[in-house]
Amino acid sequence: MTSTATVSETAPGMEVRYAGKGSEFGMEDIEAIVHALQQDTLAYGPLRDRFEAAFAAYTGARHALSTTSCTTALLLAAQVLRLRAGDEVIMTPQTFWATAVGLISRGVTIKFGDIDPGTLTLDPATIEARITPRTKAIYVMDYGGLPNDMDAIMAIARAHGLAVVEDAAHAPGAAYRGRRVGNLADLTCFSFHSLKNMSTMGEGGMLTTNDDRYADEVRKLRSMPRSCAPCRASRRCSVHISARPTNTTTTPRALTTSTRWRSRRSATTSG
Ligand SMILES: Cc1ncc(COP(=O)(O)O)c(C=O)c1O
Repeated sequence: MTSTATVSETAPGMEVRYAGKGSEFGMEDIEAIVHALQQDTLAYGPLRDRFEAAFAAYTGARHALSTTSCTTALLLAAQVLRLRAGDEVIMTPQTFWATAVGLISRGVTIKFGDIDPGTLTLDPATIEARITPRTKAIYVMDYGGLPNDMDAIMAIARAHGLAVVEDAAHAPGAAYRGRRVGNLADLTCFSFHSLKNMSTMGEGGMLTTNDDRYADEVRKLRSMPRSCAPCRASRRCSVHISARPTNTTTTPRALTTSTRWRSRRSATTSG
């Protein structure tokens, strides 16, 4: 990504430009947008596939699945884990509320661990005392891009049969003991919002996983029946029936996309 724009309001001595004070995007980025708009398929096209393949290769994850935002990725993570009312999740208290949105919307009980004051990430030593028979997952967040102590956290999770979700909204490109974030937890959620360190020029997100089953479900859930053969064939599909309580495609952006898709199709068919 090139940065050709100049920013007039940079504080003296400040090396990182304040993202709200002018565009960091250059002509290369603008040309990429124009190129994307010229594609036949705006929402699920080959450019999306290339981006996902490149992100998977970069992080070392088996699957990278793009979403409308990190919040959507977090909703999908809670959904594929089948978290529901009565379940408990141990979570870091040091985060943005979006980490919890998939849990709150499903009635999951959140139990806060505590943070390591030196790293501001979840202190693994505070997890085990909070585990009960109802605990299903551990939610961590890489505060300011600093990865959690994932060896210790994954060891606790494996010992107790828990899933680990990593909110890596701040951490694309971060690494932990020679492995990139995205290839450490069971499900990792990234943000490409324009205030984050890697942006898709507005909103955007990515979910990575090494688990084929999770990846398959996310692929179906994020686009609902359009990409799901059982749904198209019979209108009965175990993934989408269980998905109904949280229809993640009702985000404004997805609605806009599907509305455009419908109007383009009706224009084509009626014209
Ligand atoms: C830790 C954390 N998680 C999730 C999000 C949500 O990201 P998005 O805006 O892509 O939904 C944010 C956004 O600031 C965040 O800071």
